[in-house]
Amino acid sequence: MSFPERRLRRLRRTSALRDLMAETRLGVSDLVAPLFVRDGIDAPVPVASMPGVYQHTRESLRREVRVLADLGIPGLLLFGIPAVKDDEGSGAWDAEGVVPTAVREIRQEIGDAMVVMADLCLDEYTSHGHCGVLTTPSPGQGATESVVDNDATLELYSRVAVAQGAAGVDLVAPSGMMDGQVTAIRRALDQAGHPQVGVMAYAAKYASAAYGPFRDAVDVTIDGDRRAYQQDCRNFREALVEVDLDVAEGADIVMIKPAMTSLDVIAAVRSRVNLPVAAYHVSGEYSMVKAAAERGWLDGPAMALEQITAVKRAGADFVVTYFARELAEALHA
Ligand code: PBG
Repeated sequence: MSFPERRLRRLRRTSALRDLMAETRLGVSDLVAPLFVRDGIDAPVPVASMPGVYQHTRESLRREVRVLADLGIPGLLLFGIPAVKDDEGSGAWDAEGVVPTAVREIRQEIGDAMVVMADLCLDEYTSHGHCGVLTTPSPGQGATESVVDNDATLELYSRVAVAQGAAGVDLVAPSGMMDGQVTAIRRALDQAGHPQVGVMAYAAKYASAAYGPFRDAVDVTIDGDRRAYQQDCRNFREALVEVDLDVAEGADIVMIKPAMTSLDVIAAVRSRVNLPVAAYHVSGEYSMVKAAAERGWLDGPAMALEQITAVKRAGADFVVTYFARELAEALHA
């Protein structure tokens, strides 16, 4: 035989050998479940493009959170859909609004058993579906010019942070990709007496077709797109600049999304910063697996496990995923 006797198959022979040799170990404690709660409905509404995902009533949310806590899932990320949307998205900072109210109820249900995070953005609350306040367009303004007023939006994000902090979240998760958002939110939380509330920054967030199903989940129809504030997927170094800035601005955790198309970024960020690194396996990533599985084209649970494991292997310390409950049930089985 001409090849050296380095036979890697030796350690792949049995399931026990493979388990012992596994470099990446995905456990229930690596998972964060995104959840949707909607005002003004009296039964949970299934999200058509995301089989198994619901817009919850406050009551069904509470029940779901109890199940997740009992499964040992350590975190949840909450999104709200208000009964009424307006130009500014004022429902987002209403202390009696859908998310603050749900957060208080979740605390009653589970105490500190799970890390409670809230998405901090305005798109679910604005009538136009953008992540901030719109600029008044000047005549002849081109489509590529920014439609969202960055600094005016920061003012509103600060209010949202305070409302979510007062309601009792552990972490706020700003997802709007406004420049300076972490600084503004950190300052607002501190000034309002919530220094213990952390910021999980959506630090490198690419504009992506993979957010398609999410728009169904939060009833957002957006006029145009988000390319003037979210990142261009052709860029890698820019993601590192975004991450460095968020770290400098005081982020406690940096998050990268989408996951499957950003494995290079996740790996680079993991070796670059010493803060926790999270990845968000987003709606479209979930729906692609579900849709193919429904057609019998692939094994859905196996594909889900493979993808989330790969995200961890790339360097994520934990993964926000719509598969959280399903994976936790499988990992316990
Ligand atoms: C914005 C926000 C989005 C997602 C999380 N926060 C939508 C967007 O940026 O268009 C997407 C999450 C997903 O697709 O699962 N508030």
